[in-house]
This record gives sequence, C-alpha cells and structure tokens, in this order.
Amino acid sequence: MTETTDDSTPSYAAYLQLDTLLGCQSPPDFGAGGVPRPLAHHDEMLFIVVHQVYELWFKQILHELTAARDLLGQPSAPVGESVPEVVIPQITGLLGRVNEILRLAHSQMSVIETMPSVHFLAFRDLLLPASGFQSTQFREFEILAGLKEEDRLASVGGAYRSMLSDDDLRRLDARRAEMSFREAVNDWLSRTPVEGVFPGFAAAYMDAHGQYGRDQAQSHGGSPNLSAGARREVEVRLSGQHADLERYLFGDDALPHAAFLFIASYREQPLLRWPYTLLEAVIELEERWRLFRFRHARMVERMIGFRVGTGGSSGVEYLDQTAMSYRVFGELLEGRSFLLSVERLPELPHPELLAFRGLDGGDTV
Ligand code: HEM
Repeated sequence: MTETTDDSTPSYAAYLQLDTLLGCQSPPDFGAGGVPRPLAHHDEMLFIVVHQVYELWFKQILHELTAARDLLGQPSAPVGESVPEVVIPQITGLLGRVNEILRLAHSQMSVIETMPSVHFLAFRDLLLPASGFQSTQFREFEILAGLKEEDRLASVGGAYRSMLSDDDLRRLDARRAEMSFREAVNDWLSRTPVEGVFPGFAAAYMDAHGQYGRDQAQSHGGSPNLSAGARREVEVRLSGQHADLERYLFGDDALPHAAFLFIASYREQPLLRWPYTLLEAVIELEERWRLFRFRHARMVERMIGFRVGTGGSSGVEYLDQTAMSYRVFGELLEGRSFLLSVERLPELPHPELLAFRGLDGGDTV
C-alpha cells in the first residue's frame, strides 16, 4: 500500500489543514498560562465552533470585497474614463457572493439559539472581558466597506481600539489607508459620462420631478380623506422632497448622485443593464449587513436579555443602535426617494449612445 499522508502527496486532510482547523476548539485556560482546558460545558463547543465559522466567513467576505474594490477602484483611471465594461459583471458576481454569505450569516444565528441561556451562563464568565467587539475582521469589513470613524456611535467611538492588540491595530490602520469600497463606488459613478450622453440631465430631472410633485399635491388636494391642514402638510412635505432632490443633484457629491439616478432611471438601456445590476448588489449589501446586525441583536436579547455585554457595552441597546445608524451606502438609498416612473422620465436625447456597440467599437458608459 502506498503512503498518502506525506507532505508531497495531496490528501483531503492535508490540503484543508484539518489538523490545525479541528485542533483549535479547546479554549485556553487563561488562569494557567493559556494551556488548553477541557470545555466548561457541553455547549461551549457550539459557542466556539459557531464563532469560528463566522470568522471564516468574514475572511471570505474580506477576500471578495477587496477584489471587488480593486477592480472597481482602479485609482489610476482618470476622471471621465470608465471602468472597462467587462469587469462590471465580474464585480457584480463578487458582490453576489458576499451577499449570499451575509444571508447565510443571518440565518445561521439560529444555530447558536439552540443553546439555552442558562447553558451560556455556565461558561460566560470565563470569557470576560473578551467580546465580538474585538473581532478585527469585522472591523476590517466595516472599514473596507467605507464606514467612517466619525460615524461610529459616540458612546463607544474608538473604544474598541483599546481592546485590540498592536498587530490588530496596525491591520486596521493599513485598511484605513486603502481606498474603501464606498469610495470606489463613488469614483466609478463620478466617471460615468452622464453629461456626454444626456447634456443637462440634472436640470431635466428636476423639472420632471417638479411636475411629479405638483401632480401629487393635486391628487392629495382632491382627496376627501384629508383635512385642509393635512393637505397643507402634504404640500410642505412634497416641496421639501423637491428641495432635497436639488441638494442631492447640485450639492456635495453631485456627480455620483446624478449618475445613480441616471443609471437607475434608464436601466432598461442595454449599456446600463450591468451598471444597474451592480448598484442593486451594492444596495443589497447594505441591506443584508443591517439585517445581520439586527439578527445578532435579537439573538443576544434572547440569550442575555439586557445585561451589560462581556465587552462592557450596553449590550442589546448598543447593538440596536449600530443596526439603525451604521450606514455606508445611505446615499444610494436616499436616491431611491427621487425615482420616477418610466412615463415621467425626461426623454433620452440620444438612446443610440446606450445601445450595444457594433464591431467597430466606440465610447460606452
Ligand atoms: C451567546 C452568543 C452571543 C452573545 C450573548 C453576544 C453578545 C454580544 C454583545 C453584548 C455585544 C456588544 C459588545 C459587548 O459589550 O460585548 C456583541 C458584539 C459583537 N458580536 Fe456578539 N454575541 C454572541 C454571539 C456572536 C456571534 C455568533 C457572532 C458572530 C460573529 C458575534 C459577533 C459579534 C460582533 C462582530 C460584535 C461587534 C458588533 C459591533 O461592535 O458593531 N456575536 N455581541
């Protein structure tokens, strides 16, 4: 019989390094110099494995999102020069994978919920002050996606930093020095030649939106269900939305905002199909990530009620606040408020510019 476990022959266990992977479920005894100790409770195994699985998924997410950022960012591309069309489906595929992992991350919280709270309490004190708060990969994900430090909750601010090792802090600082995925998306949107395809798009869109607002006001005005006071409130709200659109299209980040509305509005045009699919994947990323935060908070609420977290935060209250307020692509979602139905859209002056190219080539979005 031939030997199959030497270093020169691949085997299932050797390729996957299962000795290492399956050999790290005995927690260190921190009171005895970190030597592995027996599990303090039958369910401690579940607690460890579930966290390890999540960390592996976080690793995969970082791998995919970094690649997506690199393809989309191409920082050397000058303004006005678009990302090659062929990479847009590729980036969309990478994001689709991240979104699928986040969907799984959301649903597999139910596995840890099979552990009764009192079983967790049997070993919870052994973890203190360790916490998911210290998941460096999770922080890397936040930073790579584009969460700004100043947008973190004031109650914790940079507090998580004091709980990390110097090596971890260096990793986070290196991530922070890189372009974030959000910046890559904004740069790509800014390079979309909206004006070249539809000169005066922003002003034309404002007009169409203004007409929409007037029609809405008229419909509400004729509604027998609203009092005169309520009708006035609706009018104020509608003109407020129009003012919001003006700020969106002509204020900070006007270029990416106009590109978002342009791509989402004319998404049926052949050359906008993939850019639109990519933007939908970005919006889904934001949605799935928030759902993950909410799901984790619900699991924690069920597991420990409203106790202080092992990391010292207010626990569920803190987690719910992050789910509500940590937004990376909020502007894309804000843009959704201004979308118009197809019949209301300004007519494209040159739809042929958004058709597929012939074999002779030509400029594309
Ligand atoms: C019994 C199960 C769990 C409980 C009771 C729990 C509880 C908590 C609490 C209270 C916090 C807030 C920080 C603190 O004060 O400690 C937290 C943060 C966190 N937990 Fe969990 N957790 C559990 C399982 C998990 C699992 C399975 C994951 C998967 C990765 C996870 C990932 C995280 C992350 C990433 C944070 C930081 C969130 C942030 O700061 O935005 N936790 N957890």
